[in-house]
Amino acid sequence: SGVWAVVPAAGRGARAGGELPKQYQPLLGRPMIEHTLRALAAHPRIAGLVVVLAANDVHWPGWRELEGKPVRTAIGGAERADSVLAGLDALPGKIAGTDFVLVHDAARPCLSHRDLDALLDGEAPQGALLAVPLADTLKRADADGRVGATVPRAGLWRASTPQCFPRDALAQALRAAKAAGVTVTDEAMAMERAGFRPALIEGAADNIKVTTPRDFALAEFLLARRAL
Ligand code: C5P
Repeated sequence: SGVWAVVPAAGRGARAGGELPKQYQPLLGRPMIEHTLRALAAHPRIAGLVVVLAANDVHWPGWRELEGKPVRTAIGGAERADSVLAGLDALPGKIAGTDFVLVHDAARPCLSHRDLDALLDGEAPQGALLAVPLADTLKRADADGRVGATVPRAGLWRASTPQCFPRDALAQALRAAKAAGVTVTDEAMAMERAGFRPALIEGAADNIKVTTPRDFALAEFLLARRAL
């Protein structure tokens, strides 16, 4: 019995620049999303993938299978939560005991097998997410661009993905956030609002979210180094 992964890939990626949507821009000669999907599908505990695409996506290569795992698609919405909810709806019916689901950004192609292991091995009934402790000192800016305060970094983490949650609880939590007019920037945020306390699992800083043009070169470096 394995876990299905929902991969939201329906964003515009406006900050990345370029002609292709960022998830289709090449890294080491393959579209970013292919690295992301293969990293998930290659793990023995991943049962299948639901990729959430923009309604007008003409770039999706139409994979039905990757690394021997089934690939389904869904059509995303205006906000991340809408896209993830659409992905959850496209999951196959439940098999007893496998009611957890993983959510992973298409824009994180450098996910390692080891981090996926760490996330899936953690016994976390309320869910879990990969995250990285902060290395930098944080400043809160005042309106005039001066330092208003230094935010102590002790206990602060950068949330990344994959994140793993009980499937029904996640759907409910995302719907509740939407109904309240709250934009959630990750799934853990919706779960917190619903009263859950997801576990933070320390992951590699290499699992970057490719966002700006310089991130593409960094992602290629990280992927190439791993392939050696
Ligand atoms: O924009 P950002 O980099 O935070 O997006 C994270 C992931 O969520 C990306 O893979 C993006 O394609 C996806 N997304 C989505 N639907 C949206 C917004 C973002 O699937 N409406």
